[in-house]
This record gives sequence, structure tokens and C-alpha cells, in this order.
Amino acid sequence: MNKNIVILISGSGSNMAAIVKASRNRHWQQRLGAQVVAVISNKANAAGLVFARDHQIATAVFDHKAFASREAFDAALMVEIDRHEPALVVLAGFMRILTPGFVQHYEDRLINIHPSLLPAFTGLNTHQRALDMGCKFAGATVHRVTAELDHGEILDQAVVPVLPGDTAQALAERVLTQEHIMYPRAVERLLTRMV
Ligand code: GRF
Repeated sequence: MNKNIVILISGSGSNMAAIVKASRNRHWQQRLGAQVVAVISNKANAAGLVFARDHQIATAVFDHKAFASREAFDAALMVEIDRHEPALVVLAGFMRILTPGFVQHYEDRLINIHPSLLPAFTGLNTHQRALDMGCKFAGATVHRVTAELDHGEILDQAVVPVLPGDTAQALAERVLTQEHIMYPRAVERLLTRMV
């Protein structure tokens, strides 16, 4: 059975690109039957959309500002996502808080990557906050999405050292490199369980 993956982005989409690249591997295609079928963004200028189009993946843009409420935005998003009958909905730098209705609708097939070692540093500016606290290690977490922000079951984590003189940007880049390895791996594991 085909396992369709829908990825939601808001920006550069480098995690999405890492998953797309992994999905072009024969194992994903033949053994898992997995493919990224759509990339959806809430920002028309998200750079990741260009990568998706260049890789012949369907794209869609839903500008959240055009909707009267969070519920209305999520409802439109759900219609678009469901068209692709996804086995997995992957949030990859998607900068919107989702309604409980949306989260419930995709229960057990909705995951996110967060640039901290959860449960530490939920929310924004994680790298600067880790530096300000004097953390010796930082990292990223792949987790299931629940109605509470950045709180679902942890599926995988990558740890990186904080180095002397680190800036938030330097730390973010070191973490992002690990995200690109971990996120495709976490997706593959989940899909493997569904085979
Ligand atoms: C990543 O650091 C991810 O952990 C966070 O937002 C960033 C997205 O980067 N949720 P990209 O759009 O995948 O390049």
C-alpha cells in the first residue's frame, strides 16, 4: 500500500528537502511504498516551495492571514491535506499553532521536529535560551504532535555539544545538520512500523 507523506513548511524547508531526498531511495520507494506527495506552506514566499516544485511535488499555499480564525485556516488545510490521503503528516518548520481539532484529526500520524532537547525549551528562540542558561548540550527532538505545544511523545533526539564562544546562529547550524539526519530516519521508522 502506498504511504503518502504530506509536509507542512513555512520557510527554508531544509528538513523537508532532507526527507524528500531520503524518499527517493529505492528502499523507501519499493519496501515502504513511501513518497512525499505534497508540500504545503502558509507563506507564499517559503523557499522550500521552490525545492518541492523542482522535485515534481505538488505544492499549495494557504495564507493564514486570509482566514477569519485559526479554526477556519485549519479546516481549509485539512481539506487540502486529506485530498492526498496521507499516512503521515510531517511538520517541518511550520510556524503555526494548530487547533485541537486539527491535532485530533491526524492523531497518530502527525509529527514535528523542534530545535531543542524537549521537554526543555518549548516555543521559540530555543538556541539563545539554551546559551543563556549555560547548557553544555543542545539538540533537536522529533515528537508526536498533541494539542499542547511541543509536548507529544518523543520519538527521537539528536544531541550536539555547545562549544565555547557559540552564537545562537552557530549552534542552530550545528543542530540543523543533525536534524537533517534524524528527521528522515524518524519518518522511516514510523513508516516501517506501518508496513
Ligand atoms: C528547524 O530548526 C526545525 O527544528 C524548526 O524550524 C527549523 C526549520 O528549518 N521547527 P527548515 O525550514 O527545515 O530549514
